[in-house]
Amino acid sequence: MLLALSTWSDVEAYLQRSRAIILPIGSMEQHGPTGLIGTDAICPEVIATHAAQDAPDILVGPTFNVGSAQHHLGFPGTMTLRPSTMIAAITDWTHSLRRHGFEKLYWFNGHGGNVATIAAAFAEIHAERSFDGPDSALPQLSLVQRNWWELPTVMDVCRRLHPRNEGSHATPSEVAVTYAAYPAQVRDVVLEPPVAPSGSFGDAEDYRARFADGRIGSDPSQATVENGREIIETAAQALLTDFRRFAES
Ligand code: NI
Repeated sequence: MLLALSTWSDVEAYLQRSRAIILPIGSMEQHGPTGLIGTDAICPEVIATHAAQDAPDILVGPTFNVGSAQHHLGFPGTMTLRPSTMIAAITDWTHSLRRHGFEKLYWFNGHGGNVATIAAAFAEIHAERSFDGPDSALPQLSLVQRNWWELPTVMDVCRRLHPRNEGSHATPSEVAVTYAAYPAQVRDVVLEPPVAPSGSFGDAEDYRARFADGRIGSDPSQATVENGREIIETAAQALLTDFRRFAES
């Protein structure tokens, strides 16, 4: 089930059988000359949507698709939230769902740069009930974040499909997932150098000076629709198992 394609009475009925929801969360940031700006939001959205097909015990909420990406702002099209804004937005999303009885929120993440801010948002949300003490009227919430590439067996498949030069940004695996989802967007551009440099960075100007075309350590020319389909299939199965365990815990 997808929240956006449900009616309020569908959701009311769902809450009779589950208190858990998947929330894809990503970023709107450059992914090199061949990767789509929405890559980090598209990947968890596509995997979660695939997992939810014909699964009445799975509800997928809207994609939180602008995240923490200040270091990519040197490239046109990148959008970001500052960490404090993102924490406030995650808190309001959570309170909206809690209002209706959702108690288990599974944030399904597509962007490494979001991890620290999502964790800070969880601490902010848990603090409200912690300050209240044992007689709090607030429900106890179960909040987790999972990176899609860290689900069991997913990296095994990615390494088999792309044994070299996966890198850490604009990777062939994430680009392949977006190409499988949107085959009309496959880009045929010669990358120079073929493998991007690796290293660390600070702000947006520093990032662009170190990584001229936006990639870090990767060769996304390996990305194909076929590889993307295999990664989506593997990740969707792993997500189903992991989410069901979470929902029943
Ligand atoms: Ni990415």
